[in-house]
Amino acid sequence: MKASELKKLYIDFFKSKGHAVIESNSLVPEHDPTVLFTTAGMHPLVPYILGQKHPLGKRLVNVQKCLRTDDINEIGDYYHHTFFEMLGNWSLGDYFKIEAIEYSFEFLTEILKIPLNKLAITCFAGDDDSPKDEVSANVWKALGISEERIVFLGKKHNWWGPPGATGPCGPDTEMFYWADESKPPEKFDPEDDRWVEIWNDVFIQYEKTSEGKYIPLKQKCVDTGLGVERVSAVLQGYMDNYKTELFWPIIEKIQELTKKDYQDNKKIMRIIADHTRAAVFILGDERDVVPSNVDQGYILRRLVRRVIRHMKMLGCEKSMSILAGEVISIYQTNYSSLNSKKEYILGELEKEETKFQKTLEKGLKEFEKITENSNELLGKDAFLLFQSYGFPIELTKELCNEQGIILDKKGFEREYEKHQMLSRVGAEQKFKGGLSEASDETKKLHTATHLLNEALRRVLSSDIKQKGSNINSKRLRFDFNFDRKLTEEEIKRIEDEINRIIGLNLPITAQEMPLQKALDSGAQAEFGAKYPDVVTVYYVGDYSKEICMGPHVENTKDLGSFKILKEESSAAGIRRIKAVLE
Ligand code: ALA
Repeated sequence: MKASELKKLYIDFFKSKGHAVIESNSLVPEHDPTVLFTTAGMHPLVPYILGQKHPLGKRLVNVQKCLRTDDINEIGDYYHHTFFEMLGNWSLGDYFKIEAIEYSFEFLTEILKIPLNKLAITCFAGDDDSPKDEVSANVWKALGISEERIVFLGKKHNWWGPPGATGPCGPDTEMFYWADESKPPEKFDPEDDRWVEIWNDVFIQYEKTSEGKYIPLKQKCVDTGLGVERVSAVLQGYMDNYKTELFWPIIEKIQELTKKDYQDNKKIMRIIADHTRAAVFILGDERDVVPSNVDQGYILRRLVRRVIRHMKMLGCEKSMSILAGEVISIYQTNYSSLNSKKEYILGELEKEETKFQKTLEKGLKEFEKITENSNELLGKDAFLLFQSYGFPIELTKELCNEQGIILDKKGFEREYEKHQMLSRVGAEQKFKGGLSEASDETKKLHTATHLLNEALRRVLSSDIKQKGSNINSKRLRFDFNFDRKLTEEEIKRIEDEINRIIGLNLPITAQEMPLQKALDSGAQAEFGAKYPDVVTVYYVGDYSKEICMGPHVENTKDLGSFKILKEESSAAGIRRIKAVLE
């Protein structure tokens, strides 16, 4: 079954069960410093899982663009991906375990027509934080799954979330499909990789606190996730996701360009295809991201450079935009923004390719310098080449071999691990103070962002639109269209305007309405962002009205004093302001 058919069947099925369809959120989460990218369908829904009312109701379904970088080293096997599409259905305080499992079962056996004897299940085994999930197991048994096909596992396997260090989470039940041609064994062995995980139903009923405690949530929710690539692959009879229509044209193009065979170069060609697809989706996202050395831009840069390096290893240069063109052809029907941003996507990739070519040359010079008077290359130097010049260890090793230099590969690996550790610490830091916590500080800065958005239009130009926003517990960051640097006087006027409004002690209120009505009323919307049919409009007195998900403070008097720290260029025609509340 082709991926597009699977997606349609899924959405239609859950619509027939009273679920409202929500748009895929941007890959770059708004107002959320906890992660760089949207990692699961539930991620944009965290405020609603925590109790905020969703404008479309308590039953939702969608296809969400996701990007995960935590298992980037696993890319190259047959089923891990950096970018992927996740199908999900949610109950926000509506149905719970029984209906969620019944819906999953009905979809798998009646819509996808998977025979019962090809299914197996895992459930949560229970621990000090939460009891054994007998309820789920009993529902599965009542539906006809035999006892031998149900296995109970611990937190490592059957628990999901929170997406950051704190937030909503709970036990889950996972569904497995026998993807081998042989007869499925009666007894389920989750270690046997012919059993492929296809769907995860998470029963969100706890909030993990910063002390690591699990507090029961007021509202019990269901969050499910089904990976489009994996499920359509197994339904097409492939273990290898790259054999499906979502990847194969890219692999064929790589074979054609390199004149090499996939069969002999699986890992490297999968990395190339996976990373190219992820890079295209990042560049094609509603929020503008360009290759850089920070945050999302840095991930994008690494993905692109890895593709270039690997294509070079296969003997091919200047191929980035050809490969990206293949990705766009595959996805343009479902993601029209890829097509409308095609020129931009290909242009950025070509620029990055040219830049990397220069770094490569500099890296080669550095290599010569380091090894001039030595017949050994230390781990830390190999790591420098890796980190600063984007040299993979294979390339460094080849250079060493050619010149009879001994490479301290172990030393390199030690440095590499150390670096990985540091990145992890970095990532954890990022999780603190995020959306799932919605701390007082982030709420205040969020309200201040609305004031800034309006003040810019009143002070500078009524054409100004929000082009991006990011808030952490210390500062806000706001991108907007404007084609020149702001003068000191303008910055002062904007600050004064915002502080004047803060001093008016205006209340912040919210109202739900159809999207068109909100737009007609002049409510601000982020340029290029997609919105559902019914939205929430937040008002700051009658000064600002903006379509938004919240949360906000109740009155501007809580904000303190607004100060702009920095005004700079973010991209062509886009300015960026960083500001704080003191
Ligand atoms: N959020 C759950 C997952 O990603 C469904 O598996």
